[in-house]
Amino acid sequence: MPAPPTAAQIRQVNVRYHDAAAEEYDGKWGIDFGPTGQSQVLGKLRKALGRGGLPVFDRGLEIGAGTGYFTLNLMLAGVLREAVCTDISPGMLAALAANADELGLEVETIAGDAERLAIPDESFDLVFGHAVLHHLPDLERAFAEFHRVLRPGGTLVFAGEPSRYGDRLATVPKRSALTLAPLWRRALRAGPATPEGHGTPGNGRPEGGDHGMEFFVDVHAFSPADLRRLAFDAGLEDASVTGEELLASWFGWANRTLESTADPDDVPWLWRQYAYRGYLLLQQIDRRLLEGRLPPEAFYNLMLAARKPR
Ligand SMILES: C[S@@+](CC[C@H](N)C(=O)[O-])C[C@H]1O[C@@H](n2cnc3c(N)ncnc32)[C@H](O)[C@@H]1O
Repeated sequence: MPAPPTAAQIRQVNVRYHDAAAEEYDGKWGIDFGPTGQSQVLGKLRKALGRGGLPVFDRGLEIGAGTGYFTLNLMLAGVLREAVCTDISPGMLAALAANADELGLEVETIAGDAERLAIPDESFDLVFGHAVLHHLPDLERAFAEFHRVLRPGGTLVFAGEPSRYGDRLATVPKRSALTLAPLWRRALRAGPATPEGHGTPGNGRPEGGDHGMEFFVDVHAFSPADLRRLAFDAGLEDASVTGEELLASWFGWANRTLESTADPDDVPWLWRQYAYRGYLLLQQIDRRLLEGRLPPEAFYNLMLAARKPR
């Protein structure tokens, strides 16, 4: 059993891993800035806030913004007017800036660690993130920063965080896919992956990278109580946790695990379309049939919403 990585190692490897993934991130994981992407992020925000209509936020800060999936889609959808995006990976922020340019959006980017934000106190109405908390070594410190930079009455939302139970369940499709992988590659006439390899799915939207580094970058899975406690201990109120994606995440894990065993150039476009469309379809089924009926911890992704007291 290897020794657990130190906080400094986790941060360093996150930079390397995400810098390396940045250029191909959007294409590889189907990040969309059209109607599909916008409806995905609006759906997540609505679920997290648990209300019908969404407010329009004047000024938002995204933590671990990556290539801009959440911020740029929120801006395009008209629910966020002004945004600052932070990320520990300069490579991801360069990709985000290029995406913003292409979409005609103005966004400030700040490279740095979520646990030490170079941002004045009480500057934002909304502090948010997607698939980032599970990478942060010191969550208490990060939440203290989120609280500090929020204006009184401001909203905090984090989505796409792996649930502990869902994470354990995900080993089933992963193991099954690994067993089936040689047959699957033969059927697709795909060669095996090169040593650099490609990753397996992550929370909600799968993430690439090499397997060795996942041990360093994916440092947490959460229970709903963990997330509520982090918000409460930081001085936030009205914390609520919801869950999303069960069938979709199983499907995603299985497909991406299969793909991770093959040379990416040999995986046919038709297969990628099937995997992407199937994932979107199962997201709908999860939303319509399961999300209102099962407890949050049954799902793969958790989302947290809370508010800074006025
Ligand atoms: C899984 S990606 C998600 C990116 C983006 N939010 C999205 O949903 O597409 C996680 C992001 O968190 C960033 N990250 C990891 N550790 C961080 C830290 N300590 N501080 C800030 N960002 C961090 C990574 O560089 C990466 O861009």
